[in-house]
Amino acid sequence: MQANIVLLPGDGIGPEVTRAAVAVLDFVAKKYEHQFDYSEQRIGGCAIDAEGTALGEATLQACQSADAVLLGAVGGPKWDDPNAAVRPEQGLLALRKGMGVFANLRPVRLHPDLAAASPLKPELLAGVDIIVVRELTGGLYFGEPKGQDVQNGVRRGYDTLMYHDYEVERIVDLAFRLAQGRRKKVTSVDKANVLASSRLWRKVTMEVATRYPDVALEHMLVDTAAMKLVTGPAVLDVVVTENMFGDILTDEASVLAGSMGLLPSASLGAGKNGLYEPIHGSAPDIAGKGIANPVGTILSAAMLLRYSLGLETEAAAIEKAVYEALSDGCRTRDLGGELSTTQMTEEIIKKL
Ligand code: IPM
Ligand code: MG
Repeated sequence: MQANIVLLPGDGIGPEVTRAAVAVLDFVAKKYEHQFDYSEQRIGGCAIDAEGTALGEATLQACQSADAVLLGAVGGPKWDDPNAAVRPEQGLLALRKGMGVFANLRPVRLHPDLAAASPLKPELLAGVDIIVVRELTGGLYFGEPKGQDVQNGVRRGYDTLMYHDYEVERIVDLAFRLAQGRRKKVTSVDKANVLASSRLWRKVTMEVATRYPDVALEHMLVDTAAMKLVTGPAVLDVVVTENMFGDILTDEASVLAGSMGLLPSASLGAGKNGLYEPIHGSAPDIAGKGIANPVGTILSAAMLLRYSLGLETEAAAIEKAVYEALSDGCRTRDLGGELSTTQMTEEIIKKL
């Protein structure tokens, strides 16, 4: 098949890990006789430097009309001034909103050989296989009004946590469909004991659940969920939650796997087009050194093949290659090894 893929390497280690994933995609294209055409664009800090905006109009349009978008990371100390008018993260948020990718899938699976790299005791890690479905285009990140002002000499800062029923409906529905292909259990995470938006979330979730009698639904408060992730993560399967809860819980969940550098994500909307990115950030401290772990981005490329291009065989082959490379003891620095980004990528390609 032929596919148009937009590459957004971004800032920090973004370009290094994106290059690694493209090397894997190129190998897959050759082996399985596909043609992937890439268009590289700017996002984040590098776009601010070059264009004065974190996401240019032409870049957004390219992403909207592509078959899929692969992103590295955005941000860094250079653009971190709280008084700055434009921030790299704005580019990412505008891209998610502009592409309409309301569902962020973040799978957390453990390689048994990496149990020692996890801060949790090995007995707690057995059987952990979670997929967090994070709402991505609503909630506190986008709610209006938001801003800062001064009232009677007192400075205020505020954000709005608002959800509409259709926003909850579509993400929860997706979570239930995913659960049907897994262990048939959905945990909906909210803060319904305090937040009105969570009480709507819970109501709509119960309505959606009636359409899926084969899937068990459990509600969990977000504070309990944060605790469960470290006291008994194996009981969780599909976890669906609003934007900010999902942001926080997925950073927490990511360390279970041994390193944040291992985890991929897919952001999906109503159509086939999707946005794929590792869940780690731009890691400015190691940028340009060639030592970043490319696995999160390589596995994101696998998700791209699966969800946007429908290439399940190829996606599974990449996931198997990563698994085997890790089984062979291939490790980047974050996992206590010595391999460079390029060496790790070559080991994975060898397994393909
Ligand atoms: C993430 C990141 C982003 C978010 C930042 C960079 C805006 O933390 O993808 O989890 O909060 O969504
Ligand atoms: Mg985050």
